[in-house]
Amino acid sequence: QKEGYRFFMEKEIYEQSDVIADTLMGRLSDSEIIFDELDKELFNGINEIKLCACGTSYHSALSASYLFERYSKIKTSVEIASEFRYREPIMTQDTLFVVISQSGETADTLETLKMAKNAGLKTLVICNVDNSSMVRLADATILTRAGIEKGVASTKAFATQVTVFWMLTLYIAKLRNSLKEEEIIRQISLLREVPASVKVTDQMHEKLKRLSKRYLHGHGFFFIGRDIFFPLALEGALKLKEISYLHAEGYPSGEMKHGPIALADPELFTIALLPEHLHYEKSKSNVEELSARDSTICAISSIEFDKADDFIQISKCKDYMLEFFEMMIVVQLLSLEISVRLGNDVDMPRNLAKSVTVE
Ligand code: M6R
Repeated sequence: QKEGYRFFMEKEIYEQSDVIADTLMGRLSDSEIIFDELDKELFNGINEIKLCACGTSYHSALSASYLFERYSKIKTSVEIASEFRYREPIMTQDTLFVVISQSGETADTLETLKMAKNAGLKTLVICNVDNSSMVRLADATILTRAGIEKGVASTKAFATQVTVFWMLTLYIAKLRNSLKEEEIIRQISLLREVPASVKVTDQMHEKLKRLSKRYLHGHGFFFIGRDIFFPLALEGALKLKEISYLHAEGYPSGEMKHGPIALADPELFTIALLPEHLHYEKSKSNVEELSARDSTICAISSIEFDKADDFIQISKCKDYMLEFFEMMIVVQLLSLEISVRLGNDVDMPRNLAKSVTVE
């Protein structure tokens, strides 16, 4: 079933182009997003979106929050389910409560959905498993079409979640008239480019295999990025932790000088996400500060960066969201190859279960 791949995770990374194409299928017209499964009434009277999830699904929710505020112009907050359920949150009726889950069975996320329902909020689930507990409970569902995900480290579920969120922000933007028609049309054409932008090339994979050798020892990793690249940094760090057991943290690039930069030395590896189309100069100067303190830098960008010890070139493209998806592939593959070099079982990492159905 691994079809020639060494691990399910590897197969699932390669499948992302196809599953994103499936997730987009039938949902794009030239000028609008089509979600036949949604009743527009769901959004009536809504002034806020609250997103709630765990783990990788939480990272996709965090990514979505940037898009909801930027494109749909709607106040958005993001919650970690295990925290939210115990902190006596204030829930107002003008909030759409959205849970995100690959499995639809994660205990903490399911509990927050119950809380929102009990408080009388409208609810939506973004899920990969039809007929799961969350799908049965929520008022509305958008299914990601990632197919069965076997690797404990989630990859294609994340990719399809972000794809759905991007579509949903445009769908709501149209309802709320918060983006110009030509901008919606432009973004729909970008969405059509995502499947091609996440195709893994032999050249990229071979480069990451070679490069992984440098990153097996040391005292830790920083994954850093700004804006929506911060949740991607969190996700990169989580991937690496899960399957390599190396210490990795995701940080917003601008936060380094508020403490974490104290750790910088050659044994501290910084994976820097440097998108050309979003805050490039600011992010670059944050990386230069780490480089000046001798951190070993691996920069991912479409613009050559001479302060980096290693440089991973992504394609020149038109928009930061395409850079996001291409960098997602890079951080997933880099984690995979580090884990393989360390001799770990990539698909069955120690101490982890695919679905966390107990607290
Ligand atoms: O099925 P869910 O999306 O609700 O699962 C949430 C997390 O348990 C899951 O994303 C976990 O963090 C993965 N192991 C990440 O790779």
